[in-house]
Amino acid sequence: MAAVDIKEERDVGAKSGGEEEEQVVNPWEVSAKDGGKIDYDKLIDRFGCQRLDQSLVHRVERLTSRPAHVFLRRGVFFAHRDFNDILDAYERGDKFYLYTGRGPSSEALHLGHLIPFMFTKYLQDAFKVPLVIQLTDDEKFLWKNLTIEESQRLARENAKDIIACGFDVSKTFIFSDFDYVGGAFYRNMVKVAKRVTYNQAVGIFGFTGEDHIGKVSFPPVQAVPSFPSSFPHLFSGKENLRCLIPCAIDQDPYFRMTRDVAPRIGYHKPALIESSFFPALQGENGKMSASDPNSAIYVTDSAKEIKTKVNRYAFSGGQDSVEKHRQLGANLEVDIPIKYLSFFLDDDVELEHMKKEYGAGRMLTGEVKQRLVEVLTELVERHRRARASVTDEMVDAFMAVRPLPHMFD
Ligand code: TRP
Repeated sequence: MAAVDIKEERDVGAKSGGEEEEQVVNPWEVSAKDGGKIDYDKLIDRFGCQRLDQSLVHRVERLTSRPAHVFLRRGVFFAHRDFNDILDAYERGDKFYLYTGRGPSSEALHLGHLIPFMFTKYLQDAFKVPLVIQLTDDEKFLWKNLTIEESQRLARENAKDIIACGFDVSKTFIFSDFDYVGGAFYRNMVKVAKRVTYNQAVGIFGFTGEDHIGKVSFPPVQAVPSFPSSFPHLFSGKENLRCLIPCAIDQDPYFRMTRDVAPRIGYHKPALIESSFFPALQGENGKMSASDPNSAIYVTDSAKEIKTKVNRYAFSGGQDSVEKHRQLGANLEVDIPIKYLSFFLDDDVELEHMKKEYGAGRMLTGEVKQRLVEVLTELVERHRRARASVTDEMVDAFMAVRPLPHMFD
């Protein structure tokens, strides 16, 4: 059977024998080799995706007539699959739609959770295209120790944080799997399921004989929002529309499977634009952990908590003593405050200046941390205000199964 995307993959799922120290990146585990940094170049090679280079960034700027988002300029979104095909089609006047999602496993989101949504909001505005957002309450019921009711409640709570990122209700459909799966969506799920063997699923996701079959049966649920025919209320008569998925690269296995199956059931392969992980305060060796509150800044943290966390836990590349620091300068490669600023400080000139001064030892860690505290406090405050103004009626409006007549305006 033709299973090109799938067979190309080697270390997607569980660690394979004899490669114990290799880095592991899959939807459930992200860990670097020997506790070091994730090697993103290697991931691109292994996963078989493409590097998102500067020429593609410039192309986006030309096509949208606006400066690229900071996450594009600074390489936070660093890999893609067929993004250039989406842009080719767009240039010819063909639109596309965006698909992203979130597994509602916790009440409070941290900054890492916001990244795909902030970026998706930019893409929606820049390209003026519709967006579907999947809340995989079923996935979290299956993987975590949560009741169905609790995962459904978390899905609605998370929807409020997502809406607070500024999405346009006239172009955005948010759905929870427990509420929406059925009809055309379900018909696509079984089409996908029929074309992935158990052995392929083991190869891609690393399932073992001890995993319950709920897990094995889940991937088609995350696959089919990539197909417009799963949303007849939105895309009826537009079954040829292309789909672009912004996501963190740990979701790639789901979409390798999807892209392998798509042409065999008569659909376009979805395109992907993929981000690296937002590092923990303690340093860059994986993504933040929801179970360690001191590893991350949450959107619910107070200004005081942000200050304490940054000052106490943000790993510094500065030297131990001021004398040594003045002499040697900071190691920017491992410095978390600089890393965080490169995600969230929009001003290129200011960032470059800080890197130069700090790297040369003329600026001290305390000053960099202070600037970071300001930037994060402003971001978190803005989010808090936006979220507080999201009502239950607004959640219902985003989640209503309805046509979006102005979705391409
Ligand atoms: N599995 C993802 C998570 O646990 C949620 C998700 C569903 C998703 N569909 C997606 C993420 C599409 C990115 C793109 O968070």
